[in-house]
Amino acid sequence: MDKKIAVIKGDGIGPEIVSEAIKVLDRIAEKYGHTFEYDQLLMGGCSIDAYGVPLTDETIERCKAADAVLMGSIGGNTTTSPWYKLPPDRRPEAGLLKIRKSLGLFANLRPAVLYPQLAGACPLKEEISSRGFDLLIMRELTGGLYFGERKTEEINGVMTAVDTLSYNENEIRRIAIKAFDVAMKRRKKVTSVDKANVLDSSRLWRKVINEVAADYPEVTVEHMLVDNSAMQLVKDPAQFDVLVTENMFGDILSDEASMITGSIGMLASASMNETKFGLYEPSGGSAPDIAGQNKANPIATILSAAMLLRYSFDMQAEADDVENAVNAVLNDNIRTGDIMSEGMKLVSCSEMGSCIAEKI
Ligand code: IPM
Ligand code: MG
Repeated sequence: MDKKIAVIKGDGIGPEIVSEAIKVLDRIAEKYGHTFEYDQLLMGGCSIDAYGVPLTDETIERCKAADAVLMGSIGGNTTTSPWYKLPPDRRPEAGLLKIRKSLGLFANLRPAVLYPQLAGACPLKEEISSRGFDLLIMRELTGGLYFGERKTEEINGVMTAVDTLSYNENEIRRIAIKAFDVAMKRRKKVTSVDKANVLDSSRLWRKVINEVAADYPEVTVEHMLVDNSAMQLVKDPAQFDVLVTENMFGDILSDEASMITGSIGMLASASMNETKFGLYEPSGGSAPDIAGQNKANPIATILSAAMLLRYSFDMQAEADDVENAVNAVLNDNIRTGDIMSEGMKLVSCSEMGSCIAEKI
């Protein structure tokens, strides 16, 4: 198959980790007889430096013209980087929010799996980590607090800031359907996370989830308050299959979920629209402190490329191949610094990419 992939390497460790994912994709193309054409684009801080804005209209158009988007990470050190002296709508993160909205990427899939080989890196007690876990956070990505009306103004001499958490039933229904569809391919359990004891938006969320659940009689559905969910994730993560939740709750819980896998450098993510089109990126950030040192863990980006093959290109065997290669390299005790432990072999970012490519 011939496919066009828009590539946004971004800032910080982005260029290093994406280069390793491309190494792996090229190996897949060679083995399976595909042609992947890459369109390199700028977004985030590097786009501010080149064009004065974190995301240009041309970049959006070229992403739309591709079959999928592979991304690294954007942003820099928020206290020292000059990018953070700019008004909020011109900073690197504004580019990320704009591309999500412009491409209609409302469904963000963040799988969190505890690899048995890395159980030692899991910060939970052994009695919990020994049970392992394999969950997926389905985060709503283009609504809620992130995109509601916001303003800061002086009212009667007092500075006041407002952010709005708003959802309509259509926005909730389409993410609910995605969650139930994914659950059907997994262990058929959906936990819907909300704050329905306080928020109107959560009460509507719960109602619509129940309506959609009626179409999926095989799926067990439960509702859990977000504060309790945060607690349950560290107490008994094995209880979860698919968690579906609004944008901000999903942002917070997905960092928590990544932490209990041992390293954020292991977590892939996919952001999808209604079609097979998606943007694939590691869940971690740009890690400016280790950028340019060939130290970063490229596995999350490589696993994101596997998700790209699976969800956007329907290449199941190829995606399995990449995931198995990652497993095989971990079995060989090869580790980057973030997942290093005694007796393992420490490798650089590019060495890790090569080891994985060689297993394919
Ligand atoms: C994420 C990040 C972004 C978010 C930031 C960088 C705007 O934390 O993808 O989880 O909050 O969505
Ligand atoms: Mg986040």
